[in-house]
Amino acid sequence: MSKRKPFVGGNWKMNLHGSEAQALASALNAGFAHAAQVDAAVFPAFPYLASVGAALAAGGHKIKLGAQDGYFQPNGAFTGEVSLSMLKDVGVKVLLTGHSERRHVLHECDELINRKTRAGLDAGLEVILCVGEKLEQREQGQTDAINAGQTALGLAGVKADQMSRVTIAYEPVWAIGTGKNATPADAQAAHVAIRRVLAGLYGDAIAQGVRIQYGGSVKPANAKELFSQPDIDGGLIGGASLKAEDFLGILNAAVK
Ligand code: PGA
Repeated sequence: MSKRKPFVGGNWKMNLHGSEAQALASALNAGFAHAAQVDAAVFPAFPYLASVGAALAAGGHKIKLGAQDGYFQPNGAFTGEVSLSMLKDVGVKVLLTGHSERRHVLHECDELINRKTRAGLDAGLEVILCVGEKLEQREQGQTDAINAGQTALGLAGVKADQMSRVTIAYEPVWAIGTGKNATPADAQAAHVAIRRVLAGLYGDAIAQGVRIQYGGSVKPANAKELFSQPDIDGGLIGGASLKAEDFLGILNAAVK
C-alpha cells in the first residue's frame, strides 16, 4: 500500500455531451463518499468545463475539475487554443500534460509538454504529467529509459517547491483503451524506476511525496490489485470513467 494519498482522475477525452457530462458529475457527487481518503478529479471536454464545474460545486467540490489540455501563452494570436487563466476562470484546478494521445495523435513534443507543465504550475494549478512507452519500446526493453526521458524533459525547469503539485501518470501506450493492462508487478517496477528518476532530480524526500498514478485499461475488477502496489498511488482512468458505477468502483478501490 502506498503511503501517499491516492489520486484518481477520470479523463473523459472527447466524449459526453453537456447533459451527459453534468449527469455523470452529479452521480459521482452522490456516490463518492471517500474524499478524505482519496483525491478525485474529472477532465471533461472544454465546452462543458463550466457546467461540470457547477455540478461539482453543488456537491461541495469533493471532486476537482480538471482540463485535458491548456496552452502555455497567456493570451494573443493562438487560434483554437485556451489559456490557463481562462481555465482557472471556469474553476479548473488540475491540468493534464503529455497524455499519450497528445503525444502520439496530436504530435506534441517533449518541449511543448514541458512548457505546458511549467506554465500550469506557474499559474498555480496542479499538473498531471503523463509518460509511457509504446509496445515496441517495451519489447526492446526501453520502458524505463522512455519513462525517464519523458519525466526529466517534462519536468525541466520545474522548481522543487512546485513538486507538491505534480503527479506523474504512468500510462503504457499499448494499455490505453485496449483492454490490456500492465501486470501489477510490471506497473510497480515502472513506478519504482520513475520514482528513482524523481529522486535523482529532486532528492529522495521530494520523490517519496510525489504521487504516481497508473493508467491504461483500469477497471473496477483490476483496480484494487494495481492500487495495492506500494508505488501505485491511484490511477488515470479513461473508458471506465465514463460510467458512474465503474468510476465509483475504481474510486472505492483506491481507499486504503
Ligand atoms: P483507458 O484510458 O482507461 O481507457 O485505457 C486511460 C487514459 O487514457 O488516461
